Amino acid sequence: MSQIKNIGVFTSGGDAPGMNAAIRAVVRTAIYYELNVTGIRRGYEGMINGEMVPMDRKSVSNIIQRGGTILKTARSDQFKTPEGRKLAYGQLKKHNIDALVGIGGDGTFTGAKIFGQEYDIPIVGLPGTIDNDLQGTDFTIGYDTAINTVIDAVDKIRDTAESHDRLFIVEVMGRDSGLIALRTGIAAGAEAILIPETKTNINALFDRLERGRKDKSSKIVMVAEAEEAGGAFEIAQQVKDKYPNYDTRVSILGHIQRGGRPSCMDRVLASRVGVAAVEALLGGHRNEMVGVVHNEITYTPFDSAIKHNTDINPNLLKIVEILSL
Ligand code: F6P
Repeated sequence: MSQIKNIGVFTSGGDAPGMNAAIRAVVRTAIYYELNVTGIRRGYEGMINGEMVPMDRKSVSNIIQRGGTILKTARSDQFKTPEGRKLAYGQLKKHNIDALVGIGGDGTFTGAKIFGQEYDIPIVGLPGTIDNDLQGTDFTIGYDTAINTVIDAVDKIRDTAESHDRLFIVEVMGRDSGLIALRTGIAAGAEAILIPETKTNINALFDRLERGRKDKSSKIVMVAEAEEAGGAFEIAQQVKDKYPNYDTRVSILGHIQRGGRPSCMDRVLASRVGVAAVEALLGGHRNEMVGVVHNEITYTPFDSAIKHNTDINPNLLKIVEILSL
């Protein structure tokens, strides 16, 4: 019989569409199992400051379709210090919170891992980041919505690129990861994709542009923000220097990728892992991320979930090369 009576739920790091659906699932599942549930505002920062709100079934009504996070989020430097974590633990005790569900990415789980080692509190994580850069889940909450936002924008860019016979360098998010750029590049019919995982250099891009059809009116090059050859402006400058007759423009999509109504895929993923997280805590899991791999719920230790060795499927890269003729 589990000793857990009050679960604290929080979102942390960059927000992602579907986080609200995950909060809703955690709150409603806790209530279903006759537990109390407390919302912790502003991630670890709010935990340290005692920003706690009791949640009931109504507090999560009408949020499944909303982007952002009703609990708000933050990146906390204070929580990286032992003093900060001590304050956070004190607040959890004060509010009788005896288990946690943290929704976030890499930074969230790094903090959770250390906190779970230092203090006796069961913590389970849900993968919430548009970057999709966690091990132990096929997709993260927010990724599907973000990539659909990107292709919507790039389709529009393609219209104007085609009208003006232009080459566009489009930069998308992904702090350490090219997974947004890779999928959206394929879906938008990009001529080339530059991602940090493949160690592309600028000469590879020139080769690709030269191999491409000369009579092509528009060209789109997708660049991940973490690309080592530089950001979109640096790459555009090098392209302009090499090919002065290309009419080159830059578009940095930025934070629109983090907002908007979550897609059906993200809502369902968030709902599944949200339910599973509460059940996992009741079943004795701790210091693990709940994910979905091959359509099955999985549990991955935080340590493994945050390993930055996201493999890039070489077939996807080959597809870009074949289809961009
Ligand atoms: O981790 C999600 C993410 O959107 C990254 O893709 C990006 O590098 C980062 O967050 C931006 O963070 P911020 O909104 O704090 O500038």
